[in-house]
Amino acid sequence: MTRVTMICSGNICRSPMAEIILRHLLDEAGVDSVDVDSAGIGDWHIGEGADPRTVAVLQRHGYDGSAHRASQFDASTFASYDLVLAADRGHVRALQRGARTDADRAKIRLLREYDPEAVAAGTLELDDPWYGGTADFERCLSEVEAACRGLASELQRDLDRASS
Ligand code: 4NP
Repeated sequence: MTRVTMICSGNICRSPMAEIILRHLLDEAGVDSVDVDSAGIGDWHIGEGADPRTVAVLQRHGYDGSAHRASQFDASTFASYDLVLAADRGHVRALQRGARTDADRAKIRLLREYDPEAVAAGTLELDDPWYGGTADFERCLSEVEAACRGLASELQRDLDRASS
């Protein structure tokens, strides 16, 4: 199994969107050897569902976010992941502080590094929609979708290469 975790601040907006969308794309592609989860750097929302605005924007685009429960990232679990994907550079810094080995540090990337347009534009952070409105949640979802499409293709390519 390849294991991917998506990280944001509260695990109620950005990283649940990323988890649900990546899983959906992999399911659609028939890829069943990638485990996806998500967590927050903070502990404020542990056990809560995703923000209602997250569930609503996911639903408008055909995804089901109703089963999500927020959790906090535990740095002692680094070894169990292949990729630890951060929404913004603040999360990257927090993850780097928690990583104990170079191998763990090498797993940390920004999610939008998988979106070629974001790379070309140099807009690699996923802005927090929490303080915003519907338009911010819509923008966030479309940025997450673009990155997850790139990530799903790369994961598929890696798996195809490994099996050939
Ligand atoms: P997220 O958004 O990190 O995308 O889940 C936030 C959710 C909650 C808070 C901050 C950001 N908060 O401060 O509680």
